[in-house]
Amino acid sequence: MNKLISAVIGCLFIVESSASVIKGSIDTTQHADKIEPTIYGQFTEHLGYGVYDGVWVGENSEIPNTRGIRNDVVAALRELKVPVVRWPGGCFADEYHWQDGIGPREQRPVRKNNWWGGVVETNAFGTHEFFDFAEQIGAKTYLSVNVASSNPTEMREWIEYLTSDEPDTLANMRRGNGRETPFSLDYIGIGNESWGCGGAMRPEYYSDLYRRFAAFLHRNGRGFHNNNDNKALAVASGANNLDTNWTHVVTSNAGSMMDAISLHFYTLNNGEWPTRNELTATDITQESWNEIVYQASRMDDVLSAHEAVLEFNDPDNKIALYVDEWGTWYRPEIGNEPSFLFQQNTLRDAITASVTLNIFHKHTRRVKMANIAQTVNVLQAMLLTDGAKMAKTPTYHVFKMYLPFQNALPVKMDLKSPSRSHKEGNFDLVSGSAAIKDDGTLMIALTNADFGNGHSLNINLGKNYAINSAKILTHQQANAHNIPGENPTLEPFDYNGLVVLNEQLEVDLPAKSVLVLQLAPQ
Ligand code: AHR
Repeated sequence: MNKLISAVIGCLFIVESSASVIKGSIDTTQHADKIEPTIYGQFTEHLGYGVYDGVWVGENSEIPNTRGIRNDVVAALRELKVPVVRWPGGCFADEYHWQDGIGPREQRPVRKNNWWGGVVETNAFGTHEFFDFAEQIGAKTYLSVNVASSNPTEMREWIEYLTSDEPDTLANMRRGNGRETPFSLDYIGIGNESWGCGGAMRPEYYSDLYRRFAAFLHRNGRGFHNNNDNKALAVASGANNLDTNWTHVVTSNAGSMMDAISLHFYTLNNGEWPTRNELTATDITQESWNEIVYQASRMDDVLSAHEAVLEFNDPDNKIALYVDEWGTWYRPEIGNEPSFLFQQNTLRDAITASVTLNIFHKHTRRVKMANIAQTVNVLQAMLLTDGAKMAKTPTYHVFKMYLPFQNALPVKMDLKSPSRSHKEGNFDLVSGSAAIKDDGTLMIALTNADFGNGHSLNINLGKNYAINSAKILTHQQANAHNIPGENPTLEPFDYNGLVVLNEQLEVDLPAKSVLVLQLAPQ
């Protein structure tokens, strides 16, 4: 199959395969914990155009909306079956007071958004609007509560306002604001980046504060609550990158009071937060391509490092690891307010998303949730909007291609991929993951992160399968991207550069491509 020429939806793809075939095998008898749908979660912060314009346009907008929430964005996110959304931040969360965002909109206080450009925050999008958004897209809800500049009472009252079905004052206030039945609150994050924008705390101090806040969740223990209205799982604010000491101290001191601890890991050029001199998302050289893919691939080691700490402190696996912020972070697009973190999203982002999802599929014992940053118009977004126009990004398409992995059981896949050495480490040019669905369908995702070369693969499947579907996302241009209002440059299409014969999958992967296969057992 080397140098295969495949005709695909009206265009020719010439796969310039490198000489040697990459051998691989799948063993469906060995599987790990199921892939929780929540690892495909989203994060939506009051930042730039993430909420305002991106989700909320208001009821009087000419942009079609339902109770102020954009219909196009809701429809696109429904297609993704978004499992969970985290809100209202991020750094914004530790300055947010929930009472600002309830009641008649014209009476809500106007504040400054001190973290993100000092712009005016009208509070038009508050508690009811967020829960309406989550209900419209069919997602679970994950609130990040203000710990650094608030107190447990404010948190407890927010929970009561949301979840109480009794005739108490807070529940009656909710009813007065138009919501009779309680909202479904699924996860509560106690602070955000408490080591940084969320209070610049030391882990010893934060873990005590965590205990104090968690006491007012009214839980007798994990899964048991004195107040039966509150069923939400409790999440501790976690570490950044490789700060395993944070994970160690917080879980040692407060582990029995949490269901999960979070972790933030961003893919950054040279591992540093971008400066004004960095390359933007679309300025891609072969060197910067390799740099970003390498940085994304570090997620594997970062997860392993925190998992080792958790295995030590929590061998019974009661504390899950939630990667509740991840994704690429480049110099924002020039001409935009830099603190709005608006960046384009290219084929390279699709590759890093798929590299990361493949890694999450390997870590299902601990990693039960992940939330890419962020849903619309901020960092590695699913969707970009421009007035009434909207584009689905390459990252959106990867999430959609990977949808059938939700709830599937990951199975062992060995790939003897060549690696590219890069700076202090190296990364596999071809990576992948495989999983079995309830009906026996074998899912295989393959990512070719090689900037210039296609690769041929021969994977021993151990039994015969028929190809049910094969979708690929690829382009000759590394910086191919989609622009709101224009015909999409990059969309997945059916791929026929593969065969399954005598229990062997032979596939030619073009350079810079993501392929997702569904195979039916024969
Ligand atoms: O996602 C943008 C910011 O990145 C979040 O507000 C913060 O938690 C992180 O540093």
